[in-house]
Amino acid sequence: MTMTDGDVFGRLDGRVVLVTGAASGIGAASTRLFRAVGAEVVGVDLAPGEGIVQADVSDPAQVAEVVDAVVARHGRLDVVHGNAGVNVPGRPHSLTDADYRKVMGVCCDANFYLVRSAVGHMRAHGGVFVFTSSMCGVGATPRSPVYNMAKHALIGLAQSVAVDYGAQGIRAVALVTGPTHTAMVDELWPPGPLRDSLTATTSVGRLATPEEQARAAVFAALPGSSFLTGCSLTVDGGATAGWNEMARTMLTLKAAR
Ligand SMILES: NC(=O)c1ccc[n+]([C@@H]2O[C@H](COP(=O)([O-])OP(=O)(O)OC[C@H]3O[C@@H](n4cnc5c(N)ncnc54)[C@H](O)[C@@H]3O)[C@@H](O)[C@H]2O)c1
Repeated sequence: MTMTDGDVFGRLDGRVVLVTGAASGIGAASTRLFRAVGAEVVGVDLAPGEGIVQADVSDPAQVAEVVDAVVARHGRLDVVHGNAGVNVPGRPHSLTDADYRKVMGVCCDANFYLVRSAVGHMRAHGGVFVFTSSMCGVGATPRSPVYNMAKHALIGLAQSVAVDYGAQGIRAVALVTGPTHTAMVDELWPPGPLRDSLTATTSVGRLATPEEQARAAVFAALPGSSFLTGCSLTVDGGATAGWNEMARTMLTLKAAR
């Protein structure tokens, strides 16, 4: 990894990055931006897309197969951005076993499988895991119990990876991602009162772009972030700073849904 005068964070030339959920939203932006700093990027998604390896990241066998294929083809693996996610809204009593498994499988389990499969390939030269958690990893959005649980778990996973593999030069960071304009938000928070109240949770009064979130993922992975590990990076337009506004909005939402 190279750092030159005036280049504070360095680049990832010659490094190999795996991004999950790469077909859309934050993952697609992350794929573009990791390429912009010199990395070779392998995108993984359930959905098809140009240059995307199609796989279900909630299946441990498929995750192991993808990781092994990346190392076989590119010779190494340096950064994993565990980013794929889904939500099935509903209160605990209304969610089925299948709903629970779907959200937990993609948002939480997949990232454990990624660590288990990838860490052995990083031990010799170091590496970085970046997990897209959420504000739901530090609080709770109404009617999203499994999503909230899964996103909390990613902060614990980042801490565990930091503690268990720090001596091998492996870092891990969880992104506390705030409201971002992606397909997920279009589906779950359609334009109208719901979208307006989501936007109002931020201090800046707008949703993030996927690129604004992807920049945080790249920042966490760059060589200049070498002391950043076992921590969360909040990119939420000031939303968690204004918990009172958040609580008020969420109460409105509760009444609306
Ligand atoms: N958009 C937001 O406001 C927001 C806020 C906080 C956190 N996040 C998190 O950001 C991440 C990216 O979401 P996004 O907003 O870009 O949404 P998105 O729907 O645009 O992207 C999610 C991607 O994950 C993929 N995916 C779903 N299940 C998969 C599976 N089993 N295997 C492989 N890929 C799968 C989807 O096909 C999709 O391409 C998610 O983890 C989400 O929870 C989003």
